[in-house]
Amino acid sequence: MNCEGWLRRALAAKRDGEILDDATWRRIVEGYVAGTIDDAPIAALAMACAIRGMGDAEVAALTGAMVRSGDVLAYPHAAGIVVDKHSSGGVGDTVSLVAVPLVAACGVPVAKLSGRALGHTGGTLDKLEAIPGVRTDLSPEAFVAQVETIGCAIAAQSDRLVPADRKLYALRDRTGTVPSPGLIAASIVSKKIAGGAGAIVFDVKAGRGAFMRTAAEAVGLARMLVQLAERFGRRASALVSDMDEPLGAAVGSGIEAVEARDFLRGDDRDPRLAEAIFAVVHEMLRVAGVPGERVVPAALDALESGAAYARFVQMIEAQGGTRDAVERIAAHPARSSALAPCDGVVTAIDAIAIGELARELTVADGPFSGIRIVARTGTPVRAGDVLAECAGTSVEPAAVAQAFTIGATAPPPRPLVDAIVRDAAASEPSKARS
Ligand code: URA
Ligand code: CA
Repeated sequence: MNCEGWLRRALAAKRDGEILDDATWRRIVEGYVAGTIDDAPIAALAMACAIRGMGDAEVAALTGAMVRSGDVLAYPHAAGIVVDKHSSGGVGDTVSLVAVPLVAACGVPVAKLSGRALGHTGGTLDKLEAIPGVRTDLSPEAFVAQVETIGCAIAAQSDRLVPADRKLYALRDRTGTVPSPGLIAASIVSKKIAGGAGAIVFDVKAGRGAFMRTAAEAVGLARMLVQLAERFGRRASALVSDMDEPLGAAVGSGIEAVEARDFLRGDDRDPRLAEAIFAVVHEMLRVAGVPGERVVPAALDALESGAAYARFVQMIEAQGGTRDAVERIAAHPARSSALAPCDGVVTAIDAIAIGELARELTVADGPFSGIRIVARTGTPVRAGDVLAECAGTSVEPAAVAQAFTIGATAPPPRPLVDAIVRDAAASEPSKARS
């Protein structure tokens, strides 16, 4: 059946840089999911898309067909527009664990569908599951019910949502066709549309530790994500943020849950992580329709009043954990320090190396091991000063020190958030709020 004429013609057209119509994209996705079209033609199609690019209408057609391959969630009893947040994956990105309960505590329901650790990047699910008892494999029904009753949930993407993406992503991974902006956008947005959120915030990482190496590439993807979400009637914003160095101080899985708890309780707030969290939270509140002048005070109040921490505990309890478990989690007791080999200034921190070393630690020594960054880029150091602390025993601190570059002069400071791309409704406030 793979030699069907229409499919051969579609592949030839895509190879030559032509545009396929909606019906063709739908037929391709339906056939692939049903198994009547095998991997070979789809691999060729993905490569043609990666090399030739895709038109906006094609990306939308592919996205729509992927959404229709599985269930679509809805929240008829939620307290308002339900928001979801996507991060393109980073090192030390603890933002979701804090932003989800914080936004919920502002009265905006959050339905966060998450992924697992991939390569050197951490996964929100692994961080949450490090808390004893916590489950993230909620059924779609349980996920919806939790969002409707307590206002937030963080769960794994169910197999019932967008099965086409699971199959297509696995094939792209084997065929060198993951890095195609159109295929990436369709993959990300289809999962968010199927998750049922009415508003979406994308956090697109740019830098050495990210998929998009330059801010310009990341801005291109950010625009594509926002416009695609708008085509499906969703409010959307995208941040482009720096991933040249780890985001938060903690890099691991469980130690990032500790960092999130301490942030919410006000015990310890890394300034760089705080900047990232507030940027994401503000966009989540905006796209949910919170009036511009209320956004900053609402977020601050939810954090300072303890409402955000209370909501975090409620979410953990709803997902099988206990307050006691949240309060008891702590970093692995074996500690060692990575020391500066010479005097100078930290000019770079290799996020990929830190992510990989933290991964090695958590695999060998358990979820509460990992790395804590002490000297950020731009920090002056003397030989023997602490650059980072390791919790766990399976990685030599000297290997961690090698991820730091010490130079003579500080690099120019780089903003954490490079750009924010907003949807059309954001510039029509009266319409956005109606
Ligand atoms: N993340 C996704 O979910 N899909 C992609 O294709 C790339 C990153
Ligand atoms: Ca940087």
